[in-house]
Amino acid sequence: MLYQLAVLIHLLSAIVWIGGMLFLVLVLVPVARRSADSPERATRLLGQIGRQFRPVGWVCLGLLVLTGLYLATDHWRVGLVDLFGGAGWFVHALQVKVGLVAVVLVLSAVHDFVLGPKLTTLLERRGEPVDIKRIRRNRSAVVWLARLNLLVALAVLVVAVMLTRGSPL
Ligand code: HEM
Repeated sequence: MLYQLAVLIHLLSAIVWIGGMLFLVLVLVPVARRSADSPERATRLLGQIGRQFRPVGWVCLGLLVLTGLYLATDHWRVGLVDLFGGAGWFVHALQVKVGLVAVVLVLSAVHDFVLGPKLTTLLERRGEPVDIKRIRRNRSAVVWLARLNLLVALAVLVVAVMLTRGSPL
């Protein structure tokens, strides 16, 4: 019962987190770019949307790590020690997955708490001339970081499937 509940929470968190990022990239970003009267307005709007999604994303990531570690140790009997030296397909796939999750956590933190807020500060500076070049440089860094993060998140998904269902190759 607890096992099924943990898998349900794990999958639901993955759906909300990855689904949210895909919706942002595939739907909200193009619509904001097309409808705003200037690129800066679009960036401001996307910044607000990003800030609204931020707690949702971090709660999902937290739940993924907690339920993931619970599933690995309680159901699959792979402890933290095995993660650093264990053998077998499942352990190796889990090592890759946890490594990728660590990368995602770092990229998300830099995006959400460093570069994103810096861009917002630049856009909301009042009483000073707007430095368009600096804003565009920062925006480009934020966008590329978000794309990279999404790619690594999708790689986590691929490894997650191979973890329990084996390699297709
Ligand atoms: C430290 C972090 C994580 C650990 C330790 C972990 C561990 C696990 C384990 C042990 C399972 C097997 C569950 C079972 O069916 O018994 C699993 C499945 C799964 N995980 Fe994670 N996970 C982590 C993070 C993530 C993240 C960030 C995602 C989102 C992309 C994710 C997506 C999935 C999916 C989709 C499955 C189902 C795979 C399938 O049934 O084919 N996991 N995870």
